[in-house]
This record gives sequence, structure tokens and C-alpha cells, in this order.
Amino acid sequence: MAYRVLIVDDDHLMARSLSRCLESEGFLGFVVHSGEDAMRVLKREEFDLVLLDLSMPGLDGFQTLEGIKADYPDLQVVILTASQDIHDAIWAMKHGADDYLIKSSDMEEAVQLVAKKALKTASLAKENALLKRQTQERINQYCLVTESSSMRLVYQLIEKIAQKEHSTVLIIGESGTGKEVVARTIHNLSPNPEKAFIDISCSSLPDSLVESELFGFEKGAFTDAKSAKQGLLELADGGTLFLDEIATLNLSVQAKLLRFLEQRTFRRIGSTIDRQVDIRIIAATNRDLAKKVSRGEFREDLFYRLNVFPITIPPLRERKEDIMPLANFFIQRFNQKLHLNIQGFNQQAAQLLVNYTYPGNIRELKNIIERAMIIEDSELITPSSLHFPKGEMFFAEPILTDDTSAYLQPAEADQPTQQPEKFLTLAEMEKAHILKALKQAGGNKEQAAKLLGIGRSTLFRKLAGLEGDLP
Ligand SMILES: Nc1ncnc2c1ncn2[C@@H]1O[C@H](COP(=O)(O)OP(=O)(O)OP(=O)(O)O)[C@@H](O)[C@H]1O
Ligand SMILES: [Mg+2]
Repeated sequence: MAYRVLIVDDDHLMARSLSRCLESEGFLGFVVHSGEDAMRVLKREEFDLVLLDLSMPGLDGFQTLEGIKADYPDLQVVILTASQDIHDAIWAMKHGADDYLIKSSDMEEAVQLVAKKALKTASLAKENALLKRQTQERINQYCLVTESSSMRLVYQLIEKIAQKEHSTVLIIGESGTGKEVVARTIHNLSPNPEKAFIDISCSSLPDSLVESELFGFEKGAFTDAKSAKQGLLELADGGTLFLDEIATLNLSVQAKLLRFLEQRTFRRIGSTIDRQVDIRIIAATNRDLAKKVSRGEFREDLFYRLNVFPITIPPLRERKEDIMPLANFFIQRFNQKLHLNIQGFNQQAAQLLVNYTYPGNIRELKNIIERAMIIEDSELITPSSLHFPKGEMFFAEPILTDDTSAYLQPAEADQPTQQPEKFLTLAEMEKAHILKALKQAGGNKEQAAKLLGIGRSTLFRKLAGLEGDLP
């Protein structure tokens, strides 16, 4: 798309010649002859650049400049001036003009150069604004729900350590408990959240690659090193390097990392120059590092270096108070993302969610909610939309009792009256009844089918629909 340049000059000849110069370089030139016209046109149309003559009758260049910068602060304005008026141009630069151009008979090349430079500045400014917005979005994206007392404690630790820019942090927690969100929250609450947050999963790359990714290399350091490359330590300079699954780091990289943590310097592979970077290391593990140390698989000294500030994230099953706040948080997120309008959960669905044990922790809860939202037809999530994928111990105790109503509403079972919203759908009743039969038959499907008075294949078909919901 061609750039649009507005030329504002009461000298018709000059304006036309400027327009021709620009058009020969592929720009689109538009000419007006007064400040008033310029302001009018700017209201109606968009431009990438304005070339503005300073001395014009009526609204002069200075006033027009003021008007443009007040209404369109990001629009690039280049002042046109005669050589004897250079001081005016400098004054204009001090008052918001982006550049100036001295009028002359052979200014073609100069016009083109100045226009290109101004447009490059404009596009860099745009890029910068975009990056800032993306950073802000990135920061907003990682919201940490912390309702339970244990997670509130975790949050207090996060707030404290975030301020200590150089402190190393070790985050320990089962898979899906939110280690990465915690790491990002630490970064986002640190004094420089706009700086880089670089993450590397130490288990996802072969050992040799982890080393070159982290520390970088010089040209010729190994056969494939055709040119020098910065490592992640350098890329993260000023910010945070998140080393996920640190337990899988091999011993030689562990030694290098230890050296970095102790001396804050490192060398690219193949280099003898010590480099210094200013970063925070956050490591995460879902394994027992102390055990790895005792087995000789993880360096003890590195373990102590990393373990200065450990943050342990409890599994979701140990902080059930977080389940519903998280579930509602995900509903909001997916309503936005999937353009849905789910309002929440009915009582039975909420009960099931709270009772489940979540071997995959919050990631699993998130997936369960997303799936439920997609298949749910009503505004509230009902049990029939909930699918517990790992099928492990899905029913915590109060759920599978001999009483079907107790299965879905354990908390309310004793209440004499049923509120209308808790009325079970046929599908829910059927599911509960099938599960009850299965339980009574000790998991034997043939017997369960007999109990239910249906054929084996009918039961199999129904079970296929409930796949994953079964104990
Ligand atoms: N407290 C929380 N609040 C909101 N969302 C969370 C929270 N904890 C985790 N999540 C969400 O759960 C999912 C899993 O979290 P995350 O990737 O941080 O877990 P992890 O511990 O790093 O898992 P893994 O060990 O598998 O890498 C992510 O989508 C994350 O956004
Ligand atoms: Mg992770």
C-alpha cells in the first residue's frame, strides 16, 4: 500500500513539484494550500506524513503544526523552510515537528530521503506501540487465581520475591499446578515487566541443544555453527529466564549453570570471553529434586543455589477452595474466546467439580471446563457436559451412594424440598442410574446391563457416551 503524504504549501508551484518528487518514489501526494485546508482534509482522510510550509497566510505553519500535533500526535510532520529561515525550522522541531527540509530548486532527492526517514520513524513508533500493547496483554493474560489460604500464601511470597530482581526462585509443583503462571506473575510484578521473559523447557531438547540454546555459541564452535548465535541468557538480559523442568538438565549443563549463578558470567560455546547479563533465573520442577540429588543425578551445590527461595504450589486436590473460583475464571475466559454466554454451573455440576481429584491439576480443570462449555446447550453447565478425562477416582466419597439423588446433590440430600433449578434431567438420571448399576455389579458390565434391564450392546453404547465419566 502506497504511503499518503499531505503537502501544505501556499506556493502552488512548489507544492506540485514536491508532489511529483514523491510520486516518482511511489508515494501518493495530496496538495492543499493553507493551514485551514490541511486541518479540514486531515479530519476526513488519513495520512502517513505531512510536509508543512511554515510561512503561509491565515493559519500559518506554526499554528497548523500545533493543531496537527494536538489532534494527531503520531502523525509525522516535516517542516518546509527557506534556508534563511532555518531558526524557524529549529523552533518548529522543538515544538513537535519531526524533521525539516530546506527548500531549493533541486530538492528532489532530499524530499525523498526525508519522507522515507519520517515514514520509517512512524512505522517504528507503530511497532513500538504494538509491542507495548502486546506486553500489556501478555501481562493481563497471566492472571493468577488465589482464593485458597495456601495459594494466598504463595501469592505473598511471589509479591515479595518479585521485588528482588536478582533472586533466583525454584518453583515446585505437580504438572499443571500453575508453575509457569507463577513464574510469569513473578516477572510481571517485578520492577521491569516489559523486559523479556524467556522460557525453555529443559526436557524438550536434546542435551547438546539445551547447552547451545542457553549459552549461545561462536562461529565455528562446532560443525553446524556457521555463524555466532546469542544464547537465551543473553536474550533474557534485563528480564527473566524461566528454566522449566530443571530436573532433566544434564550434569554438564548443570555445572555451567552453577557457574553462572555463582559468578553471574558465562561463556558462549567456543568462546573465551566472559559475558555478563543481568537476569533473574526462575527454575521449575515437578520432581523431587532432593531425591535426584541423593541419587547423584542432580548436583547438590546447584540444588542449594536454586533452592534459596523455593515456592511450592500445592496440587489442586489439596486446595479445593480454588476449584470453583478457577472454574468461574475459566468460564469468563472461554466466554470471551469462544463467544459464548455460559453463566456458571448448576448445583450438581459444581458438586462434581469440587469432588474430583484432578490428577492433571488446573490444566485438567481448564480442559474440562472448555469442553463442557462447548457441548453445553443451556446457560448453566450441567453434569452431562462434564467429562473427566483421566477417569481416575472421579467420585469422591459422598457421591456414589445408594441414593441417586445423593449422587448429584450430596450437600442437599436431606432437604425436604427440591428447588426447581436442581431438577435432574433425564440424561442425568440415566447416567446416575447406569453408574449405580455398575457399582452394584462391581464393574461387571454384563451384570449391570441385566440390572438395568437392557441388552449388553445398549449398555455399551450408552457407556461410550459417558466415556471418561466412569470410575
Ligand atoms: N492459579 C491459577 N490461576 C489461573 N490459571 C491458572 C492458575 N494455575 C494454573 N493456571 C492455568 O492452568 C494451566 C496450567 O498451568 P501451567 O502451565 O502454569 O502449569 P505447570 O505447573 O507449568 O504445568 P507443567 O508442569 O505441565 O508444565 C495454564 O493454562 C494456566 O494458565
Ligand atoms: Mg509448565
